[in-house]
Amino acid sequence: MFDIDKILSQNDNKRQITLTTIVGRQGVGKTTYILSELVRNMLLTKGVLIYDYSSEAKYQTIPLILLKDLKRWNSKGIYRIYDPDPLKVFKAIRADVRNCFLICEDAKSYMNPNLQSEIAEVLGIRRQLGIDIVCNFWALENVPPVVLTYSNFITIFKTRDKLEKIEKLDKIPNTEDVVKVWQAVQKHSNQYYKLTISTNG
Ligand SMILES: Nc1ncnc2c1ncn2[C@@H]1O[C@H](COP(=O)(O)OP(=O)(O)OP(=O)(O)O)[C@@H](O)[C@H]1O
Ligand SMILES: [Mg+2]
Repeated sequence: MFDIDKILSQNDNKRQITLTTIVGRQGVGKTTYILSELVRNMLLTKGVLIYDYSSEAKYQTIPLILLKDLKRWNSKGIYRIYDPDPLKVFKAIRADVRNCFLICEDAKSYMNPNLQSEIAEVLGIRRQLGIDIVCNFWALENVPPVVLTYSNFITIFKTRDKLEKIEKLDKIPNTEDVVKVWQAVQKHSNQYYKLTISTNG
């Protein structure tokens, strides 16, 4: 298993730029994990932007940044984008943001199964932009195929996925390993348990 926290706290020149997909049903601790563990490690090397589409209560103390101010951001510290138009948000990120972490909270709300090109482009050229991306979803079956294809890591909490559907996820090179990890998490006694797997993306 991977210690994703350790990987993300390394400088970019020592590692590849990553896309990490987090899946877990409501209340399993995704946001808590992002805020208390991931963000702390991220801030050791680069700034953090959170796209807080659903205005999550736990993020309310994080300062807001307006899209028009992104180009002047020095990629230090942590800021929150709160904007109802995801395509505008991703266009602005594509144009004005470099070298940071981007956390896409509650991504199912704005990433369609047929992923919008404005969003797919940012995911696809994250290495050129220097943007490490973390997206979270409630279930593997909600993750758009393009996001699975681009993912380097999947962090799996307990989900309401159906085994038969996960076994058919053909966008991941190592689906069998993902199924094993998902099953190990599902049967674990701790409701907040999670494991991270590399998907060779
Ligand atoms: N590892 C943990 N141990 C104990 N309690 C935890 C842990 N992680 C989270 N919690 C508690 O569980 C509750 C839900 O956590 P959180 O909001 O992070 O879940 P979530 O997966 O982001 O849910 P949602 O999908 O609804 O956004 C919170 O009250 C949090 O304090
Ligand atoms: Mg949450």
